Amino acid sequence: MIKVLFVCLGNICRSPTAEAVFRGLAEREGVGDALLIDSAGTSGYHIGESPDSRAAAVARQRGFDMSAIRGRQVAPGDFAHFDYILAMDRANLRDLRRTCPAAHQSKIALFLSYSDRFSEDEVPDPYYGGPEGFDRVFDMVEDAAAALLSAIKAERPC
Ligand code: 4NP
Repeated sequence: MIKVLFVCLGNICRSPTAEAVFRGLAEREGVGDALLIDSAGTSGYHIGESPDSRAAAVARQRGFDMSAIRGRQVAPGDFAHFDYILAMDRANLRDLRRTCPAAHQSKIALFLSYSDRFSEDEVPDPYYGGPEGFDRVFDMVEDAAAALLSAIKAERPC
């Protein structure tokens, strides 16, 4: 079982979108059972909450279901548990690196670094912006998720 954790600030917009899209792609490719996929926030602002309705609407329009996801905060045990810990932006990366034990630091990376289509390496926080920000987050997440799945399949055939 390969374990993948997506991390943003609130765990209601970007990382649950990544969780839902990555799970959906893995299931379509028939490798869903080989992967444990989760998401979490560096903050505790939205623990127990459903994903942001704007993020959920875009995901639904584009064929992915976020309805079962609830917000949670990154926990100390996550660093040992997961194989891939993927941050949406540099602030998330910095917060993860600050609390992650040395033995697990190499598991942490910027999620968008997997994408060839986007030259940026951060998925921008859409929370205080307009609806176009959620479409852009989805485009970035979809591309990076497909590339991540290819990379994991190449590294560890499942
Ligand atoms: P996320 O977006 O990190 O992509 O889930 C945010 C959600 C909530 C807040 C900030 C970002 N907030 O400040 O409450």
